[in-house]
Amino acid sequence: MRLRLPAEVLAFADRGPAWAAYVAALPGTLADLLAEWALTATGEMWWGHASVVLPVLDDAGVEVVLKVAFPDLETQHEALALQHWGGRGAVRLLRADPRRRAVLLERLARTDLTDLWDVHACEAAAGLYARLHVPAPPQLLRLTDHVGRYADPLRALPPQAPLPRRMVEQCLSLLRDLGTDERSTGVLVHGDLHYENVLADPRHEGEWLAIDPHAMSGDPHWEPAPLLWNRWEELHGDVRGGVRRRFHAVLDTAGLDEDRAVAWTVVRQVLNVLWLVQDAVAAGRSLDVEQRTMVTRMLSVAKAVQE
Ligand SMILES: Nc1ncnc2c1ncn2[C@@H]1O[C@H](COP(=O)(O)OP(=O)(O)OP(=O)(O)O)[C@@H](O)[C@H]1O
Ligand SMILES: [Mg+2]
Repeated sequence: MRLRLPAEVLAFADRGPAWAAYVAALPGTLADLLAEWALTATGEMWWGHASVVLPVLDDAGVEVVLKVAFPDLETQHEALALQHWGGRGAVRLLRADPRRRAVLLERLARTDLTDLWDVHACEAAAGLYARLHVPAPPQLLRLTDHVGRYADPLRALPPQAPLPRRMVEQCLSLLRDLGTDERSTGVLVHGDLHYENVLADPRHEGEWLAIDPHAMSGDPHWEPAPLLWNRWEELHGDVRGGVRRRFHAVLDTAGLDEDRAVAWTVVRQVLNVLWLVQDAVAAGRSLDVEQRTMVTRMLSVAKAVQE
């Protein structure tokens, strides 16, 4: 049986040759995995920004999901991290083929943290940190190596780049300090813990589980930033108040150090801007309206946590 890909998944191919190859291979990859792992597809395919997720039954008739992700650095260690957590704080991994970036996962509810009041949602996400932030397996990319690669490109940004020089200098100085601090690595961080990557645990009423890690060996203070820049419209213009409310909800729930969380958040926000600029340069275009809006958002978060 050849699975039909939804139009939104077919459109991933427009992102470039590597994505086109991923999309072209998907029907075959999914069909092979269904056969090899004795799974039966039961419904429409779901997808995220970088994967497809197929609801399936396993050979015992249990509802599970098959995920096949785009092979990049961010998805590289999904299986390893999930295996390491063993269902504690994160979705349970049932089977994996890292070469094909395929994982078989327990089926969670389709309810995520987007419908909870944002402060409660931040508390729910931060409530997972204690279980997720365990000693990291040694194979993982080190957070300091990951961010350290961007010092030179940051320094090389032209003066007309949409990033105030003061913030570039601040980020470079933080990268120097954090890069030599032994607390900056060693903890398994999820790396992409935003509202849609936390799903309701069907086995335990009111409990949540993380999915979709971009795992690294890092510092727990790297974790809060995606809770600040997502669900932006709900801040209703009160960026400073709203971001700070979320930030402090996370710090209080997880018992994080404020100065360290500010430092890593500033680094993360500045690097997000650098990556937007790099994407535009790679595409041979200047930033479009959407990208400029994101730049403003990223810099507003960096300012709000420091006020
Ligand atoms: N174990 C699961 N049970 C139920 N639904 C799931 C499960 N894993 C993923 N999903 C759903 O599939 C979709 C994509 O999942 P996931 O977040 O893993 O993909 P992604 O492409 O890596 O996402 P992102 O957009 O965050 O990069 C989401 O809507 C998610 O809710
Ligand atoms: Mg996701």
